[in-house]
Amino acid sequence: MRLPALLCAAATALLGLAPGAHAAAGDEAPALNVITTFPDNPFSLVQNGRPNRVVFSFSHPPGADRALVLEEITGAFLNPAKRDGQRGRVLRNMTTTRLKDVPIASAAAQPLQVPFDFYPEFKPQSLDVEFRAKVLDQGNTRRYNLPVYRGTVVVEEPAPSFFDLQLLSVYVVMTTALAGIAYVVYTQYLAAYVRPKAPAKRTQPTQPAKPAAAHHDEWLPPQPTVRTRRQAAAAASRRK
Ligand SMILES: *[C@@H]1O[C@H](CO)[C@@H](O)[C@H](O)[C@H]1NC(C)=O
Repeated sequence: MRLPALLCAAATALLGLAPGAHAAAGDEAPALNVITTFPDNPFSLVQNGRPNRVVFSFSHPPGADRALVLEEITGAFLNPAKRDGQRGRVLRNMTTTRLKDVPIASAAAQPLQVPFDFYPEFKPQSLDVEFRAKVLDQGNTRRYNLPVYRGTVVVEEPAPSFFDLQLLSVYVVMTTALAGIAYVVYTQYLAAYVRPKAPAKRTQPTQPAKPAAAHHDEWLPPQPTVRTRRQAAAAASRRK
């Protein structure tokens, strides 16, 4: 539960108060006060494919003392162009959230706050929504399907986030493809310019081989002769 968000009344859009039907007899639907809020969402905008949170705040009206337990919350997207009961009125049911038998506290206590996330998948448009709660009366062990809230939401596409998982996979595919293209271009066309092939060694025109020493004497400045140890040793033994 996002209590801080809830307590911040200024940033919270108050959607409505749905008093349940007043019941005098034991078997009638229990009276229940439910305040429904879209935290930090004053215009009831809901984003496709994302969790959209609504928070219900359940409490007994003063004087009511039935031992009620909240078991389920569910909802539905409704076609605003149809009337209740008409074919096509319910566009889609939301996924039901089952609760672990949460008791609804007495009127004196803090209201029971329950978050509920739903995921629209519609074209951007204005839709009606309804939420219902299944409540167990522990006194007569009967279950009641209570309407909790009905209103309108505006479905919109979420702004793509840079780190969206789907987008990330697109980046990966595109990067791989670009790398592949770059590699082909490099090897096919650019390699020759970037790294020119070493000029093929010209085969020396065959000449009568001159003695190496003579060749050195003619063309090269005198160089210190590097001798291997073995050569040096051989020379030394010759000198002896
Ligand atoms: C929604 O759920 C109700 C019962 O919970 C069912 O009768 C109805 O057919 C469902 N509608 C859709 C559109 O799934």
